[in-house]
Amino acid sequence: MKIPELCLVALVGVSGSGKSTFARKHFLPTQVLSSDAFRALVADDENDQSASADAFAALHFVAGKRLAAGRLTVVDATNVQPHARQALVALAREHDVLPVAIVLDVPEDECWARTQARPDRDFGRQVISRQQRDLRRSLKHLGREGFRQVHVLHGVNEINTAEIGYEKLFNDKRELTGPFDVIGDVHGCRAELELLLDRLGYTLTRDAAGRPVDAAHPEGRTAVFVGDLVDRGPDSPGVLRLVMGMVAAGHALCVSGNHEAKLLRKLRGANVQVAHGLQETLDQLAGSDLDPTPFLDGLISHYVLDGGRLVVAHAGLKEAYHGRASGRVRAFALYGDTTGETDEYGLPVRYPWATEYRGKAMVVYGHTPTPTPEWVNNTICIDTGCVFGGALTALRYPSRELVSVPALAEHYAPVRPLVSAVPAGDDAGLNLADVTGRRSLETPAGRVTVAAENAAAALEVMSRFAVDPRWLVWLPPTMAPSSTSTQEGYLEHPVEALGDYAKAGVPRVVCQEKHMGSRAVLVVCRDEDAAARRFGVDTGAAGTIYTRTGRPFFPDAMNTALLDGVRKAVGAAGLWDELGSDWLLLDAEVLPWSAKAEPLIREQYASVAAAAGAALPAVRAALARAAGRGLDVAALEARFAERAGSVAAFTDVYRRYCWPTDGLAGVRLAPFHVLASAGASHARRGHEWHLALVDRLVTADPELFTTTRRLVVDPSAPDDVATATRWWLELTASGGEGMVVKPAEDAGPRVQPAIKCRGREYLRIIYGPSYTEPDRLATLRNRNLGRKRGLALREQGLGLAALDLLAEGAAAWRVHQLVFAVLACESEPVDPRL
Ligand code: CTP
Ligand code: MG
Repeated sequence: MKIPELCLVALVGVSGSGKSTFARKHFLPTQVLSSDAFRALVADDENDQSASADAFAALHFVAGKRLAAGRLTVVDATNVQPHARQALVALAREHDVLPVAIVLDVPEDECWARTQARPDRDFGRQVISRQQRDLRRSLKHLGREGFRQVHVLHGVNEINTAEIGYEKLFNDKRELTGPFDVIGDVHGCRAELELLLDRLGYTLTRDAAGRPVDAAHPEGRTAVFVGDLVDRGPDSPGVLRLVMGMVAAGHALCVSGNHEAKLLRKLRGANVQVAHGLQETLDQLAGSDLDPTPFLDGLISHYVLDGGRLVVAHAGLKEAYHGRASGRVRAFALYGDTTGETDEYGLPVRYPWATEYRGKAMVVYGHTPTPTPEWVNNTICIDTGCVFGGALTALRYPSRELVSVPALAEHYAPVRPLVSAVPAGDDAGLNLADVTGRRSLETPAGRVTVAAENAAAALEVMSRFAVDPRWLVWLPPTMAPSSTSTQEGYLEHPVEALGDYAKAGVPRVVCQEKHMGSRAVLVVCRDEDAAARRFGVDTGAAGTIYTRTGRPFFPDAMNTALLDGVRKAVGAAGLWDELGSDWLLLDAEVLPWSAKAEPLIREQYASVAAAAGAALPAVRAALARAAGRGLDVAALEARFAERAGSVAAFTDVYRRYCWPTDGLAGVRLAPFHVLASAGASHARRGHEWHLALVDRLVTADPELFTTTRRLVVDPSAPDDVATATRWWLELTASGGEGMVVKPAEDAGPRVQPAIKCRGREYLRIIYGPSYTEPDRLATLRNRNLGRKRGLALREQGLGLAALDLLAEGAAAWRVHQLVFAVLACESEPVDPRL
């Protein structure tokens, strides 16, 4: 007997008929799921009938896992009762594999004799008699129960001599590796097909009447037709004749389209509704000598090619259906994933299966006439509506090159204008399953693993607070501070900051003034159309500004007003044209700090100053009175005097970063990277390129933009280190937060993208007013930077990968997956003071 390579085999036979023996002989031990073994697994006793329900639940579960993975599965149980078999047929259907029954029909006496000889069976003959009655009753129903093959082996001899062979599924053409030319819906456009085949390099063969009957490619390429060869167009028989010839000669493959399926039913006399151009085909066939029935009858609904890397189906095919065989697989391949509804033109509404497609195989399909073929998650629709006056298109595989010939005429009037084959979903195909759970992502900095609990935390932030995720194409990596300084009185110092890069072998670094504000990412589009085109956001917004955790930076109206200013400056600076883009991604600091962080300043910093302001004078007054009474409190007085000085310094520090703003008045923007524009990631460009563009924005609008002071030095040259130290001391002495040091040119993904070196005074608001006291400083020097550094590298890797995918025009969900992971990394526990 021959059974399909992938199927669910139900062995059927009474106890003692030899099912387990048969299974051992013909199948791998792992392919066989036996009810006895599952009884033993769940109840330590393979004869414990009270465990049957649990045993079968476990067996069905494992069978389901195997079938989902495309593995042949054999169920070794008596299966003599209809309900037992129904469960297996349902399981097979659920996984779109063929259910097969193999019946071992052995005389009852023989089974009883064997049973008596078995130490592992102690039931009476009546059990076998009952099973035998059930089997007799079942035999003639098996086909109707849904088994696609029923093999009955009569008697011991037939069972002993039986051999099992395998047959491939008809859709399995994995051994064909191409190269292929996949050709879209032809719909009777024979002339255009001839032109296309010619363009593709095929040589046509004609019959005596001059009609093309074959086409072959000198390099052995194979044409693959996506179906809908017929209907609507001028010469469906001509197209059929040519394609039938190519298929017969082995020069082409062809899958069935819905039009072939309907034509076949009509030719066989079924009462089908003659519409959508079928009449034209029937008329043309009536005047021709061609009988396409056997060809149409042999058409398969999809093919899996090239080791599983290419799938061709008329209306596309979701991954779970690749290489599967069932009614619903065929229906999907022929008609698509329809909702059952129709649109205003009476055409079926389709589920956006392609936007949800996550499979590895490339899926090439037709069915929906579309103005231009568009890649969506490794799927492409190549029906460019030739019969409606569009074009006939081929996709060359594996090169992905598209070759089209324009229609010679509008052969048939379309009911509706051609639309994209992939309806733009509201969510751009973003899918919860792409971001939840533990996952590992490939980045230029190596694989980054996100823990499930961090993904959950990120989801919480994202779903409650974030901007529309379609805008979230990048999030900034965290930044590690410099190695802890050994300089007297300092926790961070340029000697170590530059030293870190010297050690990493970076030849030139840029020291940039660290603005004391809040990080902001700006997506700036030239207009609403550009935003809709690039980001799929059609809410009328032409960009957005978000924080480093993806939240809207300002309330909507302010975001919009600020973006308007930026857009004008970008235009005035000529950057749209220069970058050939109608959108930009900017990484920036928004000033003042108080614009975003006012509650933080009030609750955390101002309250420290206020408490100290109330307590310290009281303490010092008490100490003064004690001194007046002649007590020796000089040491205490000195200590609290120093505290008072520290608190004054602390207060000074945070006040300097706050200034009143009213709406946008007073808000300033200090961009430091132009991260991406159409088709390009600029993340690996040197700082000179970035800052030169930024300076032009400052020139265009000096009110809104502020420059970033910087100094380029060699971190290994002592003179340069001295210069950078002086520069840093000046910056911080006049109230600056400190500096950020970055490699001047791309140093690769395994070097810190930036190291911060914060000023001595500024660090008071991080480590407390008197952190500079020697014993405090000694404790703080034990800070551990490893985690923070590791995190910075992983987040930079994720960001680089996101920008690369954005530049490639990859599906939004892939970019989002990486950006989401940055947010997930941020929920790792790291010392927040670093
Ligand atoms: N047996 C035999 N000759 C065969 C097949 C089986 O003598 N051609 C014997 C086996 O050695 C075993 C007994 O018959 O002792 C039952 O065979 P088994 O394959 O275990 O039968 P099953 O149908 O699996 O019985 P059950 O439903 O009880 O598991
Ligand atoms: Mg058995």
